[in-house]
Amino acid sequence: MSTAEETENPVISKVKEKDVTSAVAVAGHPLHAMTVHFPIALVFVTFAIDVIYWWSADPFWLRAGVWSSGGAFFMGAAAGAVGTAELLMVAGIRGRVASWAHAVAAMMLIAVAGLNWGLRVTDAAEILPHGLLVSALAAVLAGMAGWHGGKLIFHHGIGLMVSPKD
Ligand code: HEM
Repeated sequence: MSTAEETENPVISKVKEKDVTSAVAVAGHPLHAMTVHFPIALVFVTFAIDVIYWWSADPFWLRAGVWSSGGAFFMGAAAGAVGTAELLMVAGIRGRVASWAHAVAAMMLIAVAGLNWGLRVTDAAEILPHGLLVSALAAVLAGMAGWHGGKLIFHHGIGLMVSPKD
C-alpha cells in the first residue's frame, strides 16, 4: 500500500530537503520578523490619519501623515532589504513559490508606500482624495504581504531558528 509520502512529487521532496533557517538574525532572533511590524503598523496608521483628516479638516493630521507615511516607506524598505537577503541566501526559501509570492506583494507595498510619502512631501495638501486612496491601496497590499509572510512562517516553517538545546 502506498502512503502519501511515497507518492510525493520528487521535485517537492527535493525542495523540502533544503535548509529554511533564517540567515539574518541577532542572537537567534530573525531580523526580518523583528522589523516587519513597523511598516505594517505605520501603513494602517497613515490610513487612519487620512480618515481623521477627512473628518476633522485639522491640518495637524496633514503633518502627522507626512511622518507616518515616511516611516512606513523607510521601515518597509529596511525590512524588505533583510527579507531580500533571506530570499537570496537561503536555498530552501528561494526554492519555494510561496516566498516569491510574498516578495512580489511586499515589493508592490514598498513602491506604493514610497508613492504615498512622495505625494505628501511634494504637496502636503494632496490628501483628498489622492493620498487617502493611495493609503487605502497600501493597507490592502500590507494585508496581502503580511498574510503571505505569515504563511511562510506558520504554514511552511520558513525562517524558524530552533535551538539545539530544545
Ligand atoms: C522585498 C521584500 C521582502 C522579501 C523578499 C521578504 C521575504 C520574507 C521571507 C523570506 C520571510 C520568511 C521569514 C524569514 O526568512 O525571515 C518573510 C516573512 C515575513 N514577511 Fe517579508 N519580505 C519582504 C518584505 C516584507 C514587508 C515590507 C513586510 C511588511 C508588510 C513583510 C512582512 C512579513 C511578515 C509578516 C512575515 C512573517 C514574519 C513573522 O510572522 O514573524 N515582508 N518575508
